[in-house]
Amino acid sequence: MTSPDVESFYHLRGEVAATRACRGLACLVARGNDPVRWQAACEREGEGRVYCLGRCYQAPAAAGDTARPHVGVRSREVVIVRHLGEHAAPTLDRYRAQGGYQALDRALRGRPEDVLGAIEQSELRGRGGAGFPAGRKWRAVFAQPDPEKVVVANADEGDPGAYIDRMILEDNPHGVLEVLAVAGYAVGARRGYVYLRAEYPDAGHRLAAAIDQARKAGLLGASPIGNGFAFDVHLEIGRGSYVCGEETSLLNAIEGRRPEVRARPPYPAVSGLFGRPTLVHNVETLAAVPWIVEHGAEAYRRLGISGSRGTKVLSLNSLFRRPGLYEVEFGLSVRQIVDELGGGLASGTLKGVIIGGPLAGVIPPSLLDTPLGFDELHAIGASVGHGGVVAFDQRTSVAELVHHVFDFGAYESCGKCTPCRLGARRIEEIFRQIVTAGQAPASSRDQWLALTRTLAQASLCGHGTGLADFAVSIARYYAQELEPCFAS
Ligand SMILES: Cc1cc2nc3c(=O)[nH]c(=O)nc-3n(C[C@H](O)[C@H](O)[C@H](O)COP(=O)(O)O)c2cc1C
Ligand code: SF4
Repeated sequence: MTSPDVESFYHLRGEVAATRACRGLACLVARGNDPVRWQAACEREGEGRVYCLGRCYQAPAAAGDTARPHVGVRSREVVIVRHLGEHAAPTLDRYRAQGGYQALDRALRGRPEDVLGAIEQSELRGRGGAGFPAGRKWRAVFAQPDPEKVVVANADEGDPGAYIDRMILEDNPHGVLEVLAVAGYAVGARRGYVYLRAEYPDAGHRLAAAIDQARKAGLLGASPIGNGFAFDVHLEIGRGSYVCGEETSLLNAIEGRRPEVRARPPYPAVSGLFGRPTLVHNVETLAAVPWIVEHGAEAYRRLGISGSRGTKVLSLNSLFRRPGLYEVEFGLSVRQIVDELGGGLASGTLKGVIIGGPLAGVIPPSLLDTPLGFDELHAIGASVGHGGVVAFDQRTSVAELVHHVFDFGAYESCGKCTPCRLGARRIEEIFRQIVTAGQAPASSRDQWLALTRTLAQASLCGHGTGLADFAVSIARYYAQELEPCFAS
């Protein structure tokens, strides 16, 4: 039993009911397609808000929807989606029949250093948002003298607009277990955790069944599986909190503490879960590892561009003519993503694209030729983030968009630092006034810009700085529409 102080942090109690509708960004911009459902999403506040069910391809969505996303590939190699969609391998037999657990066999036949070296040379960067080089984290955890280490799969996938992790977890749960064992072997950890959001109940059931099957098959548990290495995995289910996807908040959540963000240093690689050296990775980042182990770092490095190697899976929202998951090599332009993968918008005129969730810069139509890459998107104030691609059209005003994002940001703030706790809510109030009354006082213009600067400079984590990135891009690229929102 956790304390009321901890309980009060979370928004949900148990599994999300099938009748709950989604209030995420992709559903906001598609609300015109089903206003009744959107209205339902904005009600039942007392039961906790549901920000993204990972069904953005059919938005506005509800928890009980069952349609699966289209899965496409625009890459010379299929790294991530090879066990997804029509190749789904939710059971051990299916996964083995498709070559599953061979990467673990191969890793165990070699030295941990072989896997470590391959991850470093592959130049794989984290897909959870920050794009940090994976090899540097693996090396740092490996180098710690503590005999007890931990690996954690971050399956919180909170960024509204992204649903690749959900599909990996549902279609390829053994792949997640396998790669946790591979990573554990490489860095010297015997324990793995999956922190999964409550909004993905099907993924939870599949993972729990896979853990059970893997234990019965002797792949997980106390007995060594090769080279004297034994490994086990625990599943931890969240209770509705976006910020729990932030890695230090996530560690506090698993430890049963109030999941506020921790100050760094120390970084999790040095002192993470229960003070142990901890490797935290996003599910999609981990999903690249078996392919790298099987095909080699060089084959992986050959994919992509400059500082962005390999592939990324993009989650296209329902406004596109062809929504769905697309595994692409970095380097494709945003225009190609919109026109060639998505087939353009099903109706309406494109007003902007939000890649990587609401805590990232918006890409206006004038910058669609920017290539998909960490550095390339950063240069225009945008981000790869987790690869959600939410297109919006003229039916969504910029004021509504800003109001929605800051309402989300304020609702999900962990409250540890003042600019985020109070500043995000103040910006939401300013834009609520614009949305409901048509205009805010002239002084609000300076106030929202000043608060944005404070968020950028004084936030402890990427929640506050991401909100600032979003706001800066709006002020920069949508100034013309914004101008009449404030009295002169
Ligand atoms: C507010 C906030 C929310 C985040 N949510 C997630 C998430 O849901 N999933 C995720 O993998 N990373 C999330 N991250 C990033 C994690 O803190 C961390 O960088 C990531 O799990 C590291 O894995 P990677 O190196 O594989 O990207 C979030 C970060 C912030 C600041
Ligand atoms: S920026 Fe927001 S979410 Fe991050 S630590 Fe500060 S209050 Fe918490």
